[in-house]
Amino acid sequence: MSAETGSTGSAGSTGSTGSTEYWDAAAERFDDEPDHGLRNPGIRAAWDERLRSWLPGGASDVLDLGCGTGSLTLLAARQGHRVTAVDLSPRMVEQARRKLDGTGARVLEGDAAEPPVEAGQFDVVLVRHVLWTLRDPAEVLRHWARLLRPGGRMVLIEGRWGDISPVGIAADALAELAAPLAGHIRVEQLAHDPALWGKAVHDERYAAVVRFASV
Ligand SMILES: C[S@@+](CC[C@H](N)C(=O)[O-])C[C@H]1O[C@@H](n2cnc3c(N)ncnc32)[C@H](O)[C@@H]1O
Repeated sequence: MSAETGSTGSAGSTGSTGSTEYWDAAAERFDDEPDHGLRNPGIRAAWDERLRSWLPGGASDVLDLGCGTGSLTLLAARQGHRVTAVDLSPRMVEQARRKLDGTGARVLEGDAAEPPVEAGQFDVVLVRHVLWTLRDPAEVLRHWARLLRPGGRMVLIEGRWGDISPVGIAADALAELAAPLAGHIRVEQLAHDPALWGKAVHDERYAAVVRFASV
């Protein structure tokens, strides 16, 4: 995620970050951003290692919401997880399907806030750089919790991008929203690791691993 992509100014006439038109228009060049396309082996390895530490050790059912072109989805699939990915933008879905071809992952077109999947079927809800764009994050988190099996977890990778008019959701605010739902929340700060971004960054970037009780 770049500050430019996230800024309301850059959305311009193509629409807001909540619109299909905006993301359809962004799809073709989306992977040019180092942390989006993960084309650089060092950046890909850095995300792969972090993702491995956030996901369960054995093969699990992972739901990647707002999957974009499927870069993170692909890492999860290659780590042996059974992945279902969902995105609102047909152009993103097209790219993700191409990227994930042959991995067994399925990619569905749909709204991350109400994904077209059954409740209670997933061990992990994985979301990177999407929650902050959704209209009612508290309600969305409640809905995502219902998609998990007992003992499941959410891996929420978010941030606050930009200096002058930052966009996104701060870790404290996200933890406050998740607290009434979850047994345990761990926030891992990510801004200090340039290997993830391909450059030094100074805004807030983090992963929140939100764990739910087993019963
Ligand atoms: C910043 S990109 C992140 C993509 C991917 N998670 C990643 O980290 O590479 C945001 C993605 O969320 C999708 N998106 C935005 N709002 C959505 C919604 N309500 N439902 C599903 N996807 C949505 C966009 O189409 C876009 O692909």
